[in-house]
Amino acid sequence: MKNLAIFSSGAGSNAARIIEFFHNHPTIRVKLIVCNNPNAGVLHIASKNRLPVLLIEKERFFRGDGFLPELENQAIDFLVLAGFLWKIPVSLIRAYSGRIVNIHPALLPGFGGKGMYGRHVHEAVIAAGEKESGITIHYVDELYDHGQAIFQARVIVEPGDTPETLAKKVQALEHAHFPRVIEEVVLSNHR
Ligand code: GRF
Repeated sequence: MKNLAIFSSGAGSNAARIIEFFHNHPTIRVKLIVCNNPNAGVLHIASKNRLPVLLIEKERFFRGDGFLPELENQAIDFLVLAGFLWKIPVSLIRAYSGRIVNIHPALLPGFGGKGMYGRHVHEAVIAAGEKESGITIHYVDELYDHGQAIFQARVIVEPGDTPETLAKKVQALEHAHFPRVIEEVVLSNHR
């Protein structure tokens, strides 16, 4: 059985779909929700699904052990970042190298990096006059939104699009693809 920990800072709509997708899966299960925001919507999703939550704080996460002991004693095999806004510390990058995936709501390498999350991304894409946008699912390394890309899907940016309408189109791609790509990555990883 491969155990996933989902890291989420916000609403958790991606987390909800990932939990749903792996419900009754023969070899992969979501075992833990890791969150840095005590008011995040994802906490309700966790309790509804009777999943344990690890609430993390900055000091220990960035300047301590990255909560690695908790991940290890839950036998976590893969970290899935689904709307997690903090950078992953090198302690976790090292312990889980090749086993951390993130989803970004744009076509990296464009429109990524520090501060590029949520509507900031869609505003920048529209302001730049891009004709298309989409999602990038990638491995995580020490830099924001920088690791090797695994999967991308595209949407057309229409003239009347606003950050809200574009966000909706991009989020539809996230929900449609992220769970399946996670499954492919986990099944193909023989660590
Ligand atoms: C999504 O836009 C995702 O691409 C980005 O953060 C957002 C998460 O949304 N990483 P939700 O919390 O899963 O609804």
